Amino acid sequence: MLKITARNLKDTNDIGCIIGRNIEKGAVICLDGDLGAGKTTITQSIAKGLEINGYVTSPTFNIIKEYEGKLKLFHMDVYRINDIEEMIDLGYEEYIYSDGVCVIEWSANIKDILPQNRIDIKMLRDNGEENKRILYIDGVGRLYEKVIKELKKYDSIRD
Ligand SMILES: Nc1ncnc2c1ncn2[C@@H]1O[C@H](COP(=O)(O)OP(=O)(O)O)[C@@H](O)[C@H]1O
Ligand SMILES: [Mg+2]
Repeated sequence: MLKITARNLKDTNDIGCIIGRNIEKGAVICLDGDLGAGKTTITQSIAKGLEINGYVTSPTFNIIKEYEGKLKLFHMDVYRINDIEEMIDLGYEEYIYSDGVCVIEWSANIKDILPQNRIDIKMLRDNGEENKRILYIDGVGRLYEKVIKELKKYDSIRD
């Protein structure tokens, strides 16, 4: 488990860009943390790292939004999902076993159907410091070795 402190918005953006630049096709990125933790914000920088030009907005009402970049990005927000069947009906399995990259906000809501090989990112706010976030990052599977290595490098050379 990797713990990285984002001291401000720029750090979160840098971390997201590193993830987007180094993520491989078929990856599933699970984001959790309270409202305002920064899940959509980090998704925007993951998109930047994937060379996606359009503006990535929260898919809360659509559940899934799709973007074209170096790889396709499937951005999901499952906050309102309370039944696994709903996800299956949306074609969930095709997205997670695709050649693109899936980012799932509020992934804990569908924990029973998450793939085993995935990267989990939990974002926590720090009481008192408005722009600080603690990120707990855990990658399971060979697909994520490069991302984890690059994030460790970032964390060790950052001043
Ligand atoms: N270090 C940081 N990382 C992420 N977001 C931050 C940070 N500092 C401030 N913010 C702000 O916190 C808010 C996070 O909102 P958002 O990404 O929509 O959260 P979520 O999707 O988790 O509900 C944004 O307004 C963002 O600008
Ligand atoms: Mg969000």
